[in-house]
Amino acid sequence: MEKLVIKGGKTLSGEVPISGAKNAALPLMCASLLTDEPLTLTNLPRLADIATLADLLNHMGVGLMFKGGRGGKISGRTLTLDGATIADTVAPYDMVRKMRASILVLGPVVARMGEATVSLPGGCAIGTRPIDLHLKALEAIGATIELADGYVKATAPDGLTGGTVRFPFASVGATENVLMAAALASGETIIENPAREPEICDLAECLNAMGAKISGAGSETIHIQGVPKLHKATHKVQPDRIVAGSYAVAAVMTGGELLLRDAEPCHMGATIAALESAGATVSVEERGIRVKAGKRILPFNLVTQPYPGFATDLQAQFMALASIADGASVITESIFENRYMHVSELCRLGADITVTGSSATVRGVKKLTGAPVMATDLRASMTLALAGLVAEGDTTIHRLYHLDRGYERLEEILSDVGADIERVAD
Ligand code: EPZ
Repeated sequence: MEKLVIKGGKTLSGEVPISGAKNAALPLMCASLLTDEPLTLTNLPRLADIATLADLLNHMGVGLMFKGGRGGKISGRTLTLDGATIADTVAPYDMVRKMRASILVLGPVVARMGEATVSLPGGCAIGTRPIDLHLKALEAIGATIELADGYVKATAPDGLTGGTVRFPFASVGATENVLMAAALASGETIIENPAREPEICDLAECLNAMGAKISGAGSETIHIQGVPKLHKATHKVQPDRIVAGSYAVAAVMTGGELLLRDAEPCHMGATIAALESAGATVSVEERGIRVKAGKRILPFNLVTQPYPGFATDLQAQFMALASIADGASVITESIFENRYMHVSELCRLGADITVTGSSATVRGVKKLTGAPVMATDLRASMTLALAGLVAEGDTTIHRLYHLDRGYERLEEILSDVGADIERVAD
C-alpha cells in the first residue's frame, strides 16, 4: 500500500500533459468485441481501470497488445485489441466487481454472439448505480433479458432487430451499451434522449470508422442503421476533460498558472465557465488551455447536470476550490445520490461545509490545515490532493488505489510544476 504526502503552500506553474480520457477509453476497448478484425486505440492512458478491463476482455478471448508509453512524459499508449475469437460470453463476478464499467461488454457481446452473461455490477461509494436503463434499452432492440444468481443474461439467438429507445434519463453507460449493440442489429435504431457526453461522440466516431452507420451522436437523437459486420480501424482516444478540469482547479487554488497541454476546449464549456466565475482567466492556445488564477477566488454556485451541463465528475474538485473562496458557494449534485463522501474528509482539513439533501453550502475559510485523510472514491481522492496542495503543513492521503484508477502519475506531474508531493510506502 502507498500514500501521498503533500506539503502545502507551493504555487503551481508550467505545463501539464493531459492523457487520453478514461471514460472514452473504456467503451472504446469494449467496441473491439464487435468485430473479428483488430481495433487499434492510440493515446490510451496508463490507468488501473484500463488494466482491469484489459484483463476481462482477455478472459473473454480478446487478444491485446500494448505498445509505447514507457516512462517519460505521458506519450499515451497504443493498444491493439483482436476480437477474432470470443471464447467466453460470460463476464464473471470476480472481474466485474473490480470495475462496474465492465457492464459495457453486455451490448457488444450479445450483438456479436447472440448471448452474453455479465455479473451484476455492485454499487459503489457514490451510489447504488443500477443498470435498469441498460437492460430496457437492449430489450427495445430485440434482446431477451433474464436476471438470475446475481448475473444478467442477454440473448438474441436470431440477432438484434433494432428499434426505438427512449431514455427517461440520459445515462452515459446505457447509451454506450445500446449504441454498440445497435451497430450490428439487422434494422434501424433510434435513441431518444441519449447521453450527449463527448465520450459518446468519440465512441460513435470509432464505430463509424469500423463501418457502422451512426448519425446524431452528441445531439438529442441518435440514428443507427445496423450493418452485418464491422471491420478493423485505428482510433485516437480523446483527451480527458475531467483530468484537465482537475488540474485547472489546482492552478486556481494555488494562485498559479498552468497550460493544460492537449486539452480540448470544445469539451469543457461548463468547466471553463465555472473557473471564470471563480475569478480565473482561461485562454485557448495552440498547445492547449491556459488557466491563470485570479487575484482572489470568488465564491460560485453550480449544479451538476448531464452534458453539456457541469460534469458530476468535477463536483468534488470544485468543492475543494470553493472551500478557500472569499465567501459562500452552493454546490448541488443532481446525478448521484451519494457523491459527498469527500465532505467529511475536507472538513478534517478545516473546510466549512454543510450538506442539506443534494446541496452543499461551502463557506470559504482563510486556510486549510494538513492532516491524514482517506480517499473514498476516484474523484474524491483527487479533491483531497487539491486541498493538500494549499493546506498548511503535511497532508497524507491513504487508499491511493482509488486515485490510480483515474489519474496517471499524479505526483510526478504535480512535482514537475512545483508541488511538494511524494508517494511513499504506507
Ligand atoms: C459514467 O458512469 C462515468 N463512468 C462516470 O464517471 C460519470 O460520473 C457518469 O457517467 C455521469 O457522467 C464511465 O464512463 C466509466 P450514468 P455511468 O449511467 O455510465 C443512474 C468517474 O469518476 N442510472 O450516466 O454509470 C445512476 O444511478 C465515473 O470516472 C440509473 O438509474 O453513469 C446515476 O445516478 C464515476 N439506471 C445516473 O443515472 C441505469 O441503468 C448517472 O448514471 C443507469 C444509470
